[in-house]
Amino acid sequence: MRFPAGFLWGASTSAYQIEGATQEDGRGRSIWDDFAATPGRTHEGETGDIAIDHYHRMEQDVELMASLGLNAYRFSIAWPRIMPDGVGAVNPAGLAFYDRLVDQLLAHGITPVATLFHWDLPLALYEHGGWNNRATAYAFADYADIVARSLGDRVQWWLTHNEPWCAAYLGHVVGVHAPGIRNDAQAAVDVGHHLLLSHGLAAQRIRASASLDVRVGIALNLFPIFAGDTRSETSRMVERAHRFHNRWFLDPLFRGEYAPGLFEDLGANPPPIHDGDMETISAPMEFLGVNYYNRWIVRAPESPVSTNGAVETAPTQFDFAAATAGATLTAMGWEVYPHGLNLVLEDTMRNYHPRAILITENGAAFDDRWNGQELVSDPQRVTYLREHVEAVGVAVAHGAPVVGYFVWSLFDNYEWDRGFSMRFGMVYVDYATQRRIIKDSGRWYAGFLAAQRASEPQRR
Ligand code: FCB
Repeated sequence: MRFPAGFLWGASTSAYQIEGATQEDGRGRSIWDDFAATPGRTHEGETGDIAIDHYHRMEQDVELMASLGLNAYRFSIAWPRIMPDGVGAVNPAGLAFYDRLVDQLLAHGITPVATLFHWDLPLALYEHGGWNNRATAYAFADYADIVARSLGDRVQWWLTHNEPWCAAYLGHVVGVHAPGIRNDAQAAVDVGHHLLLSHGLAAQRIRASASLDVRVGIALNLFPIFAGDTRSETSRMVERAHRFHNRWFLDPLFRGEYAPGLFEDLGANPPPIHDGDMETISAPMEFLGVNYYNRWIVRAPESPVSTNGAVETAPTQFDFAAATAGATLTAMGWEVYPHGLNLVLEDTMRNYHPRAILITENGAAFDDRWNGQELVSDPQRVTYLREHVEAVGVAVAHGAPVVGYFVWSLFDNYEWDRGFSMRFGMVYVDYATQRRIIKDSGRWYAGFLAAQRASEPQRR
C-alpha cells in the first residue's frame, strides 16, 4: 500500500471524553455537564467529570502517542475552558492548557489537529437559546478567533465542528445527546443552519488571525446507504436516507444550497436563512474531515402510516435492515464494513470535489478485557483497523485526495450517553487507577506506522 508522502497518521480524542477536571482552573459548565448529571440520561449516570483524567496526565499521554509513532493527533478544545460563559471574559488558564499541549506535541514531532467544537457548548449560551439562537454562531466565531490568535502560530490544521448532524439531530430529535430535546425537528433544522453558519464565520476568522498558513475544515459523519430490498419504494428511501444522513450538511457546504425535499422529510420548515448565509457556509475549505464507522441498509416501511391520504415517510421512519448474515457487529451494534469507507471517500470525491480529505475518525468498540498485566488482546480491532486502512489505500490509488487517517480513539474514554461501557481505544484505560495499557491494536498500529516510515524516502 502506498500513501502520499507526509501522510498524517494519527488518533483522535475529544475534550469532554478524556479531560475530566470539569471544575478546575476556571472552566465554565457545558451542556454535557448538565445532561450527564441529569438522572436517566447516560449509562449508569456516568459523567465526564473525571473521564480519563487527561487534563492532569497530558504530558505522559503525549509521550505515549510518541511511543506509538503517531505523527499527528486530533483533539478538541473545550469552549467553556476558554470562555466560561461562552462570550466575554477569556480564561487564561484554559488557553494555557492547550498551549502546553500543542508545545508538547510539537516537541515530539506530532502535528496537532484542533477541533473547536466537539459538542460541549457553554451552558450560559444554552440558557440564551444555544444553537437555536443565531447569536451563538457569532459567539463561536469570536471564540475561534481567540483560540486562533493563541495557537495559530503553531497549529496548521483546524476543524470548526465535529459531526454537526449529531449535535442537531441526536440533540434535538432523538434526545440521546445534550441538550436532550426530543422530537423538535424544527430546532434540529435551525440548529443545523446555525452550526453551518458558525463554521463559515469561524473559518474566516481563523484564516485572518492565525499567523501560519492554515487549513480549515469540518468533520462530518458520512455513511454509505444500501437498499435492503428491491422494491422501488426502497430505492426512493435510499435517496432520502442519503439526503438525511449525508447531504444535509454536504450540500450547503459544497453547493451552497440545501437538498430539495430535506426539510419536508424532516417535517420542518426551512431554517431562517439570511442574505449571504449560503455564501458564508460554502466558502471553499482547504479540506473535509470524514468520520466513518459503518453503513446503513434501509428499506421502506412495509405498511407506511397514512395521514390525510399522504404517505408518511419521514426519515425517522426508515426501517433499518439487519446487517448481512455473518457480518461482524461491534459492541455498538454497528456492522463492520470496511469497503464502505472506500465508497464514502470515492463518492464524496466524485460528487463534491473536496480539495483534500482527512479521515478524522474511524474505529470500533469491542468488549476488551485486560489481563491485569501488560496485555489486552483485541484481535477484532486489529482486523478492523487493518481492513479500513486497506480501504483507504484503495481510495488513494483511485485518486481520492486523502492526506491523513485518524483512529477513533487513542484511549478508551467517556462514550457520551453510553458512558464508560464502550471501549473504543487502542490504549486500554483501567478507570479505577487511570492506568493506560497498550492493546494489541495499538501495537499493530505502531508496527504499521514504523513500516510506513521505513518505506518513505529518507529525508535529511
Ligand atoms: C463519533 C464521535 C466521537 C465518538 C465516536 C464513537 O460520532 O464524534 O466523539 O463518540 O463517534
